[in-house]
Amino acid sequence: MTPVDPAAPAAPASLSLAEHWMPFTANRAFKRAPRLLVSAKDMHYVAADGRRVLDGTAGLWCVNAGHAREPIVRAIADQAATLDYAPGFQMGHPLAFQLAQRVAALTPDDLDRVFFTNSGSEAVDTALKMALAYWKARGEPERVRFVGRWRGYHGVGFGGTSVGGIEANRRQFEGQLLPNVDHLPHPHNLSRNAFSRGQPAHGAELADELETIIARRGAHTIAAVIVEPMAGSTGVLIPPKGYLRRLRDICNQHGILLIFDEVITGFGRLGAPFAAQFFGVRPDMIAMAKGITNAAVPMGAVAASTEIHDTVMDSAKSGIELFHGYTYSGHPLASAAGLATLDLYEREGLFARAAELAPYWADAVHRLDGERHVIDVRDIGLVGAVELAPREGAPGARAFDLFLDCLEQGVLVRVAGDTIALSPPLIVSTEQIDEIVHAMAAGLRRLD
Ligand SMILES: Cc1ncc(COP(=O)(O)O)c(C=O)c1O
Repeated sequence: MTPVDPAAPAAPASLSLAEHWMPFTANRAFKRAPRLLVSAKDMHYVAADGRRVLDGTAGLWCVNAGHAREPIVRAIADQAATLDYAPGFQMGHPLAFQLAQRVAALTPDDLDRVFFTNSGSEAVDTALKMALAYWKARGEPERVRFVGRWRGYHGVGFGGTSVGGIEANRRQFEGQLLPNVDHLPHPHNLSRNAFSRGQPAHGAELADELETIIARRGAHTIAAVIVEPMAGSTGVLIPPKGYLRRLRDICNQHGILLIFDEVITGFGRLGAPFAAQFFGVRPDMIAMAKGITNAAVPMGAVAASTEIHDTVMDSAKSGIELFHGYTYSGHPLASAAGLATLDLYEREGLFARAAELAPYWADAVHRLDGERHVIDVRDIGLVGAVELAPREGAPGARAFDLFLDCLEQGVLVRVAGDTIALSPPLIVSTEQIDEIVHAMAAGLRRLD
């Protein structure tokens, strides 16, 4: 049982749950037994009943510096009082330019032209549209096809849903997704790689499936390949050694753009600013969000290469060069939060801290190897995953029960199908890592 925080704000006594149609939630079940959080600080949430909950997931992979950090809170409050909003079309404000420069300093090589969005989904759709605009500008308008990957998650826009590879996310919209999309096989293979520490040894050759797609469609029809360097939402799929390099090489051979969706892996999750640096593979565009503002204000972005940017710029004789943007692109509050967040990451050396903690983290999560129901444990950076054998006829149910058990113990973990994903804020202590793993072990021992 976790301690009760007497200072925590209470949920209103008469809270109607009917009107809010919750995202990616079993609404009926939730509303029968709601799980409400009312405040947060550093590594902890406080639940509506006053109990403290250790955040083993950095919210939704986004609160990398921990919750309600004072410099970010202050920056947002000050900005709201100074310049709450400025139009982003044909007008600008300094903070968005400053933040773009700071983001560009973190991205690899020349990926230093930054377009702001409000979410990861918008960042993905923006990157896909940029790819199309680039090929049109280059005089190759027939390059319209996208290649995604099964079990990929790229948000919920029509573009992201189309290149994404989660059956459940596609089913309700089937027939109306983008045409001209192919999918690579996913690289997750427990028969060869179960209980790997870090990158699994087997599966680089799965990247060669791109050659098959190219042979079928013709390279001259393919605009871009989009993958998460490490897929998070479908249960932490870690790229086999050499896989991403091979994908890059094949794209290079055929002049195809490579987009990394780093909405989860950006901003230190693996112990480097981006997974591109961690894996030593440079994409042509990076879609990012989440950690860019420590999730305190919604924001996403695309970092594009100067080649992509300049080609699109040069194709327009005058006037607007890219017919794309959002009312809240580079919103002042998000920009202020982003600048304060990047300052905090730098001041506290949080990306390096994640790298230093990674071996301790790996040892800790692999203590769950051999626990009942566990068919795989994997880790990379400050990400862990524990995959469970599904319950007969009820996929995901066992992991969901474990999630509920951990919550009861005061630890928030995340369910992704039959996998529990773990991704604490980068400020997590070794004691808190032990607490997360201990809760998982205790829960597993009780689980049917
Ligand atoms: C890899 C990836 N891409 C895109 C998204 C979508 O981001 P958002 O929910 O901010 O639209 C997510 C969200 O988890 C993600 O993990």
